[in-house]
Amino acid sequence: MSGKRIVVLTGAGISAESGIKTFRDSGGLWEEYNIMDVATPEAWERNRELVLEFYNQRRKQLYEVAPNDAHCALVELEKEYDVHIITQNVDDLHEQAGSSQVMHLHGELKKVRSSVDETLVYDLDGWELKPGDKCEKGSPLRPHIVWFGEPVNMIPAAADLSSTADIYVIIGTSLNVYPAASLVNYVRPGTPVYLIDPDDLSVGHIPELHVIKEKAGTGTKKLVKELMGKGKP
Ligand code: APR
Repeated sequence: MSGKRIVVLTGAGISAESGIKTFRDSGGLWEEYNIMDVATPEAWERNRELVLEFYNQRRKQLYEVAPNDAHCALVELEKEYDVHIITQNVDDLHEQAGSSQVMHLHGELKKVRSSVDETLVYDLDGWELKPGDKCEKGSPLRPHIVWFGEPVNMIPAAADLSSTADIYVIIGTSLNVYPAASLVNYVRPGTPVYLIDPDDLSVGHIPELHVIKEKAGTGTKKLVKELMGKGKP
């Protein structure tokens, strides 16, 4: 069913109520780990075992959690709208909930890739990527994650998508990490932008900004209730 187009940008906050830690909140992952030790190409060169262990733990946890009300409410919107999700998250909770158009900006936890040829991407069987695991060409496999300092190849497509939105929704991201945080700049002037987050965020001047200061589950359900019935021409 394709009516108006809704583009949704999500971050770690949408998965918080599923039990996955965010990065920058108090108690977040970047308090426990140093980004430079686990999420950069330099870390991979310096201490592969630590990097593998960090992502193995994230992946193991992902097998123990489930989508929450926010992920599910976004699926509901597809009954009336052409919904595209752009997520910074490496979990697959949008897909598990049933969203049909999901773009991952920062990679996917359940996939791994060759460390020399980034086009060789594989589904990992189970949660553990081991230090000796190799791609079909014999090079070490690494997590399929965009690390700090690496290009975000999906950005041009995400920017194009953002520029075609009739409604733009931002859920659970601190908008601290670029270039993802700049996607809202591609939204056409006059497009309503909904921001769902329990914290006060500074997003700059957006004329049609509607802030829903709630956790993702409650906030997204409220927004979906408001939008249903208005999507078809
Ligand atoms: N519902 C909605 N939002 C929430 C909730 C919740 N239950 N709990 C926390 N939040 C909000 C926080 O207020 C914050 O604005 O989620 C946001 C989380 O921000 P970050 O931890 O910075 O996560 P994110 O914006 O996704 O980080 C971007 O940084 O480390 C990298 O690659 C990683 O993709 C990630 C990127």
